[in-house]
Amino acid sequence: MAEKFFSRLSYSFGNEDWRSEQEALKIKTGDRVLSITASGDRPLHLLLDDCEEIVSIDANPIQNHLLNLKCVAMQHLSYKEYIEFLGAVPARKQRLHTFQKLLPHFEEKSRHYWINKKKMIEKGVLYQGVVEKKCQSIVAPLLRILRGKKVDKLFEFSDLKEQQEFVKKAWDKVYWRKLFDLSLNSALARLLLRCIVSDPGLYNHLNGATRVGSYLYRRMHNSLMHNLAKESLLFSLIFKGKVAPEAFPPYLTQEGVSIIKKRTHRLKVKNIDVVTFLETSPANSFDCFSLSDVASYLSPKNFAKMMQEVLRVAKPQARFSIRQFLSNHQLPENLVSSFARDGELEDRLEKKDRCFVYRYMAGTISK
Ligand SMILES: C[S@@+](CC[C@H](N)C(=O)[O-])C[C@H]1O[C@@H](n2cnc3c(N)ncnc32)[C@H](O)[C@@H]1O
Repeated sequence: MAEKFFSRLSYSFGNEDWRSEQEALKIKTGDRVLSITASGDRPLHLLLDDCEEIVSIDANPIQNHLLNLKCVAMQHLSYKEYIEFLGAVPARKQRLHTFQKLLPHFEEKSRHYWINKKKMIEKGVLYQGVVEKKCQSIVAPLLRILRGKKVDKLFEFSDLKEQQEFVKKAWDKVYWRKLFDLSLNSALARLLLRCIVSDPGLYNHLNGATRVGSYLYRRMHNSLMHNLAKESLLFSLIFKGKVAPEAFPPYLTQEGVSIIKKRTHRLKVKNIDVVTFLETSPANSFDCFSLSDVASYLSPKNFAKMMQEVLRVAKPQARFSIRQFLSNHQLPENLVSSFARDGELEDRLEKKDRCFVYRYMAGTISK
Protein backbone atom coordinates (compact mmCIF):
# COMPACT_ATOMS: atom_id res chain seq x y z
CA MET A 1 0.00 0.00 0.00
CA ALA A 2 2.69 2.49 1.05
CA GLU A 3 4.74 1.73 -2.09
CA LYS A 4 1.68 2.55 -4.17
CA PHE A 5 1.37 5.92 -2.41
CA PHE A 6 4.98 6.79 -3.26
CA SER A 7 4.71 5.89 -6.96
CA ARG A 8 1.61 7.74 -8.10
CA LEU A 9 0.38 11.33 -8.15
CA SER A 10 -1.14 11.40 -4.69
CA TYR A 11 -1.64 15.16 -4.16
CA SER A 12 -2.05 17.72 -6.94
CA PHE A 13 -3.60 20.78 -5.21
CA GLY A 14 -2.00 21.99 -1.98
CA ASN A 15 -4.35 21.74 0.98
CA GLU A 16 -2.43 24.03 3.31
CA ASP A 17 -2.72 27.72 4.16
CA TRP A 18 0.44 29.40 2.83
CA ARG A 19 0.00 32.32 5.26
CA SER A 20 0.84 30.09 8.22
CA GLU A 21 4.25 29.18 6.79
CA GLN A 22 4.98 32.82 6.06
CA GLU A 23 4.14 33.83 9.62
CA ALA A 24 6.02 30.96 11.25
CA LEU A 25 9.21 31.02 9.19
CA LYS A 26 9.67 34.76 8.54
CA ILE A 27 12.06 34.00 5.69
CA LYS A 28 14.72 36.67 5.22
CA THR A 29 17.01 37.62 2.34
CA GLY A 30 19.80 35.06 2.09
CA ASP A 31 17.96 32.27 3.93
CA ARG A 32 18.32 28.63 2.85
CA VAL A 33 15.08 26.74 3.33
CA LEU A 34 14.29 23.03 3.39
CA SER A 35 10.80 22.08 2.20
CA ILE A 36 8.83 18.94 1.38
CA THR A 37 7.51 19.15 -2.20
CA ALA A 38 4.11 17.36 -1.99
CA SER A 39 1.77 19.19 -4.42
CA GLY A 40 4.55 21.70 -5.11
CA ASP A 41 2.44 24.54 -3.80
CA ARG A 42 4.32 25.07 -0.51
CA PRO A 43 7.81 25.45 -2.05
CA LEU A 44 6.30 27.82 -4.64
CA HIS A 45 4.72 29.92 -1.88
CA LEU A 46 7.95 30.01 0.09
CA LEU A 47 9.40 31.90 -2.90
CA LEU A 48 7.08 34.81 -2.10
CA ASP A 49 9.80 35.78 0.38
CA ASP A 50 13.25 36.69 -0.83
CA CYS A 51 15.22 33.60 0.18
CA GLU A 52 18.52 32.48 -1.32
CA GLU A 53 17.56 28.87 -2.03
CA ILE A 54 14.81 26.38 -1.38
CA VAL A 55 15.74 22.73 -1.35
CA SER A 56 12.51 20.88 -2.03
CA ILE A 57 12.56 17.14 -1.44
CA ASP A 58 10.07 14.32 -1.71
CA ALA A 59 10.32 10.55 -1.43
CA ASN A 60 7.82 10.34 -4.29
CA PRO A 61 9.46 11.45 -7.59
CA ILE A 62 6.05 12.12 -9.14
CA GLN A 63 5.31 14.92 -6.70
CA ASN A 64 8.58 16.52 -7.85
CA HIS A 65 7.53 16.07 -11.51
CA LEU A 66 4.38 17.99 -10.66
CA LEU A 67 6.43 20.84 -9.19
CA ASN A 68 8.52 20.89 -12.36
CA LEU A 69 5.37 21.08 -14.49
CA LYS A 70 3.95 23.96 -12.42
CA CYS A 71 7.26 25.88 -12.70
CA VAL A 72 7.63 25.32 -16.46
CA ALA A 73 4.03 26.36 -17.14
CA MET A 74 4.35 29.45 -14.95
CA GLN A 75 7.56 30.55 -16.69
CA HIS A 76 6.58 29.96 -20.28
CA LEU A 77 2.88 30.82 -20.48
CA SER A 78 0.93 34.01 -19.98
CA TYR A 79 -0.97 34.11 -16.68
CA LYS A 80 -4.26 33.24 -18.34
CA GLU A 81 -2.78 30.38 -20.37
CA TYR A 82 -1.04 29.09 -17.25
CA ILE A 83 -4.14 28.79 -15.05
CA GLU A 84 -6.06 27.30 -17.98
CA PHE A 85 -3.33 24.78 -18.67
CA LEU A 86 -3.20 23.63 -15.04
CA GLY A 87 -6.97 23.27 -14.94
CA ALA A 88 -7.68 26.01 -12.38
CA VAL A 89 -10.20 27.41 -14.92
CA PRO A 90 -11.67 25.95 -18.12
CA ALA A 91 -9.29 26.02 -21.08
CA ARG A 92 -10.05 27.76 -24.38
CA LYS A 93 -7.24 25.89 -26.15
CA GLN A 94 -6.43 22.17 -26.12
CA ARG A 95 -4.15 21.60 -23.14
CA LEU A 96 -2.15 19.00 -25.08
CA HIS A 97 -1.34 21.60 -27.67
CA THR A 98 0.08 23.89 -24.98
CA PHE A 99 1.95 20.92 -23.48
CA GLN A 100 3.80 20.34 -26.79
CA LYS A 101 5.03 23.93 -26.63
CA LEU A 102 6.29 23.44 -23.09
CA LEU A 103 8.04 20.10 -23.64
CA PRO A 104 11.59 21.38 -24.32
CA HIS A 105 11.61 23.20 -20.98
CA PHE A 106 10.99 20.23 -18.66
CA GLU A 107 13.63 18.41 -16.59
CA GLU A 108 14.34 15.21 -18.47
CA LYS A 109 12.72 12.76 -16.02
CA SER A 110 9.67 14.95 -15.62
CA ARG A 111 9.26 15.26 -19.39
CA HIS A 112 9.32 11.50 -19.63
CA TYR A 113 6.72 11.14 -16.93
CA TRP A 114 4.27 13.69 -18.35
CA ILE A 115 4.60 12.43 -21.94
CA ASN A 116 3.07 9.21 -20.64
CA LYS A 117 0.31 11.00 -18.72
CA LYS A 118 -1.41 12.88 -21.51
CA LYS A 119 -4.86 12.14 -20.11
CA MET A 120 -3.99 13.99 -16.92
CA ILE A 121 -2.61 16.91 -18.91
CA GLU A 122 -5.73 17.01 -21.05
CA LYS A 123 -7.97 17.20 -17.98
CA GLY A 124 -5.78 19.77 -16.22
CA VAL A 125 -3.38 18.32 -13.60
CA LEU A 126 -4.63 20.34 -10.64
CA TYR A 127 -7.39 17.86 -9.92
CA GLN A 128 -5.64 14.66 -11.05
CA GLY A 129 -4.07 13.65 -7.72
CA VAL A 130 -5.71 10.61 -6.13
CA VAL A 131 -6.92 12.68 -3.16
CA GLU A 132 -8.34 15.47 -5.35
CA LYS A 133 -10.07 12.93 -7.62
CA LYS A 134 -11.69 11.24 -4.60
CA CYS A 135 -12.81 14.63 -3.31
CA GLN A 136 -14.50 15.33 -6.66
CA SER A 137 -16.00 11.91 -7.23
CA ILE A 138 -16.95 10.79 -3.70
CA VAL A 139 -16.57 13.30 -0.87
CA ALA A 140 -18.14 16.44 -2.38
CA PRO A 141 -21.14 14.59 -3.98
CA LEU A 142 -21.78 12.74 -0.70
CA LEU A 143 -21.69 15.95 1.32
CA ARG A 144 -24.01 17.56 -1.23
CA ILE A 145 -26.53 14.75 -0.64
CA LEU A 146 -26.21 15.14 3.12
CA ARG A 147 -26.27 18.95 3.38
CA GLY A 148 -28.06 19.90 0.16
CA LYS A 149 -28.43 23.62 -0.57
CA LYS A 150 -26.78 24.53 2.73
CA VAL A 151 -23.45 23.88 1.03
CA ASP A 152 -24.14 26.65 -1.51
CA LYS A 153 -25.34 28.95 1.26
CA LEU A 154 -22.14 28.37 3.27
CA PHE A 155 -20.05 29.55 0.33
CA GLU A 156 -22.14 32.69 -0.28
CA PHE A 157 -21.03 34.73 2.74
CA SER A 158 -18.70 37.67 2.41
CA ASP A 159 -19.37 38.84 5.95
CA LEU A 160 -17.95 36.71 8.78
CA LYS A 161 -20.61 37.71 11.31
CA GLU A 162 -23.37 36.58 8.95
CA GLN A 163 -21.56 33.30 8.32
CA GLN A 164 -21.16 32.75 12.08
CA GLU A 165 -24.93 33.24 12.56
CA PHE A 166 -25.70 30.80 9.75
CA VAL A 167 -23.29 28.21 11.16
CA LYS A 168 -24.80 28.47 14.65
CA LYS A 169 -28.42 28.39 13.49
CA ALA A 170 -28.49 26.22 10.37
CA TRP A 171 -25.20 24.38 9.88
CA ASP A 172 -24.20 23.04 13.30
CA LYS A 173 -26.90 20.39 13.80
CA VAL A 174 -26.72 17.49 16.25
CA TYR A 175 -27.30 14.85 13.53
CA TRP A 176 -24.48 16.32 11.42
CA ARG A 177 -22.06 16.33 14.36
CA LYS A 178 -22.99 12.73 15.24
CA LEU A 179 -22.75 11.59 11.63
CA PHE A 180 -19.33 13.15 11.32
CA ASP A 181 -18.17 11.41 14.47
CA LEU A 182 -19.63 8.01 13.56
CA SER A 183 -18.52 7.94 9.94
CA LEU A 184 -14.98 8.84 10.94
CA ASN A 185 -14.85 6.39 13.82
CA SER A 186 -11.43 4.78 13.69
CA ALA A 187 -12.18 1.29 12.41
CA LEU A 188 -14.53 2.31 9.61
CA ALA A 189 -12.48 5.31 8.54
CA ARG A 190 -9.31 3.23 8.55
CA LEU A 191 -10.90 0.67 6.25
CA LEU A 192 -12.37 3.29 3.91
CA LEU A 193 -9.20 5.35 3.73
CA ARG A 194 -7.11 2.24 3.13
CA CYS A 195 -9.34 0.99 0.32
CA ILE A 196 -10.30 4.28 -1.29
CA VAL A 197 -7.24 6.53 -1.08
CA SER A 198 -4.47 4.11 0.05
CA ASP A 199 -2.77 6.94 1.92
CA PRO A 200 -0.76 5.66 4.90
CA GLY A 201 -0.54 9.21 6.30
CA LEU A 202 -4.28 9.01 6.84
CA TYR A 203 -5.04 5.46 7.93
CA ASN A 204 -1.84 4.71 9.91
CA HIS A 205 -2.88 6.99 12.74
CA LEU A 206 -6.48 5.88 13.12
CA ASN A 207 -5.75 3.54 15.99
CA GLY A 208 -8.69 4.40 18.18
CA ALA A 209 -6.61 6.65 20.46
CA THR A 210 -8.66 9.74 19.52
CA ARG A 211 -12.18 10.23 18.23
CA VAL A 212 -11.06 11.59 14.91
CA GLY A 213 -14.57 12.62 13.83
CA SER A 214 -15.24 14.80 16.89
CA TYR A 215 -11.75 16.25 16.75
CA LEU A 216 -12.08 17.22 13.06
CA TYR A 217 -15.59 18.52 13.62
CA ARG A 218 -14.35 20.86 16.37
CA ARG A 219 -11.54 22.10 14.16
CA MET A 220 -13.91 22.65 11.23
CA HIS A 221 -16.42 24.49 13.41
CA ASN A 222 -13.71 26.71 14.88
CA SER A 223 -12.47 27.52 11.39
CA LEU A 224 -15.94 28.60 10.28
CA MET A 225 -16.02 31.00 13.25
CA HIS A 226 -12.77 32.66 12.11
CA ASN A 227 -12.63 32.35 8.31
CA LEU A 228 -14.99 32.68 5.38
CA ALA A 229 -15.68 29.27 3.83
CA LYS A 230 -15.47 30.76 0.33
CA GLU A 231 -11.87 31.84 0.96
CA SER A 232 -10.71 28.44 2.20
CA LEU A 233 -9.31 26.15 -0.44
CA LEU A 234 -9.66 23.16 1.88
CA PHE A 235 -13.38 23.79 2.45
CA SER A 236 -13.70 24.20 -1.31
CA LEU A 237 -11.90 20.93 -2.08
CA ILE A 238 -13.94 18.98 0.47
CA PHE A 239 -17.40 20.45 -0.13
CA LYS A 240 -17.20 21.42 -3.81
CA GLY A 241 -14.34 19.31 -5.17
CA LYS A 242 -12.99 22.44 -6.85
CA VAL A 243 -11.43 25.74 -5.80
CA ALA A 244 -13.01 28.97 -7.03
CA PRO A 245 -10.88 32.05 -7.84
CA GLU A 246 -11.80 33.71 -4.46
CA ALA A 247 -9.81 30.98 -2.74
CA PHE A 248 -6.90 30.73 -5.19
CA PRO A 249 -3.57 30.63 -3.38
CA PRO A 250 -0.87 33.08 -4.61
CA TYR A 251 0.75 30.73 -7.12
CA LEU A 252 -2.58 30.81 -9.00
CA THR A 253 -3.12 34.59 -8.79
CA GLN A 254 -1.64 37.10 -11.20
CA GLU A 255 0.10 39.03 -8.43
CA GLY A 256 1.56 35.91 -6.81
CA VAL A 257 2.74 34.50 -10.14
CA SER A 258 4.51 37.75 -11.02
CA ILE A 259 6.70 37.39 -7.89
CA ILE A 260 7.17 33.60 -7.86
CA LYS A 261 8.05 33.12 -11.54
CA LYS A 262 11.14 35.35 -11.23
CA ARG A 263 12.46 33.12 -8.46
CA THR A 264 11.79 29.53 -9.55
CA HIS A 265 15.52 29.13 -10.38
CA ARG A 266 16.13 29.26 -6.62
CA LEU A 267 14.43 25.87 -6.22
CA LYS A 268 16.67 22.78 -5.98
CA VAL A 269 14.48 19.70 -6.22
CA LYS A 270 15.56 16.26 -5.00
CA ASN A 271 13.95 12.85 -4.91
CA ILE A 272 14.99 11.53 -1.50
CA ASP A 273 13.69 10.44 1.89
CA VAL A 274 13.78 13.30 4.39
CA VAL A 275 15.82 11.47 7.04
CA THR A 276 18.41 10.34 4.48
CA PHE A 277 18.61 13.86 3.08
CA LEU A 278 19.22 15.36 6.51
CA GLU A 279 21.77 12.70 7.48
CA THR A 280 23.80 13.51 4.36
CA SER A 281 23.59 17.30 4.68
CA PRO A 282 26.31 19.43 6.27
CA ALA A 283 25.83 20.76 9.80
CA ASN A 284 24.65 24.38 10.20
CA SER A 285 23.44 24.68 6.62
CA PHE A 286 19.72 25.64 6.75
CA ASP A 287 17.91 28.69 8.16
CA CYS A 288 14.33 27.41 7.87
CA PHE A 289 12.53 24.07 7.87
CA SER A 290 9.10 23.71 6.29
CA LEU A 291 8.29 20.08 7.03
CA SER A 292 4.55 19.70 6.52
CA ASP A 293 3.02 17.15 6.56
CA VAL A 294 5.78 14.57 6.40
CA ALA A 295 5.34 13.56 10.05
CA SER A 296 2.17 11.62 9.20
CA TYR A 297 4.31 9.21 7.17
CA LEU A 298 7.00 8.67 9.79
CA SER A 299 7.13 6.23 12.69
CA PRO A 300 7.80 7.81 16.11
CA LYS A 301 11.37 6.50 15.83
CA ASN A 302 11.94 8.15 12.43
CA PHE A 303 10.26 11.35 13.57
CA ALA A 304 12.76 11.51 16.47
CA LYS A 305 15.62 10.78 14.06
CA MET A 306 14.41 13.52 11.70
CA MET A 307 14.28 16.08 14.50
CA GLN A 308 17.73 15.06 15.79
CA GLU A 309 19.11 15.67 12.31
CA VAL A 310 17.20 18.93 11.88
CA LEU A 311 19.00 20.16 15.00
CA ARG A 312 22.41 19.23 13.55
CA VAL A 313 21.69 20.71 10.11
CA ALA A 314 20.09 23.92 11.45
CA LYS A 315 22.01 27.15 11.75
CA PRO A 316 21.68 28.77 15.20
CA GLN A 317 18.28 30.49 15.51
CA ALA A 318 16.85 28.62 12.51
CA ARG A 319 13.02 28.54 12.36
CA PHE A 320 10.83 25.49 11.91
CA SER A 321 7.22 24.93 10.90
CA ILE A 322 5.76 21.45 11.04
CA ARG A 323 2.16 20.49 10.41
CA GLN A 324 0.70 17.16 11.44
CA PHE A 325 -2.68 15.90 10.37
CA LEU A 326 -3.73 12.72 12.16
CA SER A 327 -0.35 11.92 13.69
CA ASN A 328 0.60 13.58 16.96
CA HIS A 329 4.35 12.99 17.29
CA GLN A 330 6.04 14.80 20.14
CA LEU A 331 9.61 16.03 20.39
CA PRO A 332 11.85 13.50 22.12
CA GLU A 333 12.81 14.54 25.68
CA ASN A 334 16.46 15.19 24.81
CA LEU A 335 15.49 17.75 22.11
CA VAL A 336 12.84 19.73 23.95
CA SER A 337 15.27 22.39 25.19
CA SER A 338 16.82 22.92 21.72
CA PHE A 339 13.50 23.40 19.90
CA ALA A 340 11.99 26.51 21.47
CA ARG A 341 8.36 26.05 20.47
CA ASP A 342 6.34 29.24 20.35
CA GLY A 343 3.07 28.15 21.98
CA GLU A 344 1.34 31.44 21.30
CA LEU A 345 2.25 31.26 17.59
CA GLU A 346 1.17 27.61 17.35
CA ASP A 347 -2.23 28.41 18.93
CA ARG A 348 -2.71 31.36 16.63
CA LEU A 349 -1.85 29.32 13.53
CA GLU A 350 -4.19 26.51 14.56
CA LYS A 351 -7.02 29.02 15.03
CA LYS A 352 -6.41 31.17 11.98
CA ASP A 353 -5.28 28.59 9.44
CA ARG A 354 -7.94 28.38 6.72
CA CYS A 355 -7.04 24.74 6.15
CA PHE A 356 -8.31 23.74 9.53
CA VAL A 357 -7.13 20.15 9.97
CA TYR A 358 -3.52 20.58 11.06
CA ARG A 359 -1.67 20.62 14.38
CA TYR A 360 1.40 22.87 14.55
CA MET A 361 4.93 22.77 15.86
CA ALA A 362 6.67 26.04 15.20
CA GLY A 363 9.45 28.08 16.75
CA THR A 364 13.19 28.62 16.84
CA ILE A 365 16.14 26.27 17.21
CA SER A 366 18.78 27.18 19.75
CA LYS A 367 22.25 25.61 19.64
C1 LIG B 1 0.23 14.55 2.77
S1 LIG B 1 1.38 14.93 1.52
C2 LIG B 1 1.31 16.56 1.79
C3 LIG B 1 0.25 17.25 0.97
C4 LIG B 1 0.29 18.67 1.42
N1 LIG B 1 -0.55 18.86 2.58
C5 LIG B 1 0.02 19.67 0.35
O1 LIG B 1 -0.71 20.59 0.59
O2 LIG B 1 0.60 19.57 -0.74
C6 LIG B 1 2.92 14.47 2.22
C7 LIG B 1 4.11 14.46 1.27
O3 LIG B 1 5.24 13.97 1.98
C8 LIG B 1 5.95 13.07 1.15
N2 LIG B 1 6.68 12.15 2.04
C9 LIG B 1 6.15 11.24 2.87
N3 LIG B 1 7.11 10.59 3.55
C10 LIG B 1 8.29 11.13 3.15
C11 LIG B 1 9.65 10.90 3.52
N4 LIG B 1 9.98 9.98 4.42
N5 LIG B 1 10.60 11.66 2.91
C12 LIG B 1 10.27 12.60 1.99
N6 LIG B 1 8.99 12.85 1.61
C13 LIG B 1 8.01 12.13 2.18
C14 LIG B 1 4.87 12.39 0.35
O4 LIG B 1 5.37 11.80 -0.82
C15 LIG B 1 3.91 13.54 0.08
O5 LIG B 1 4.24 14.22 -1.10
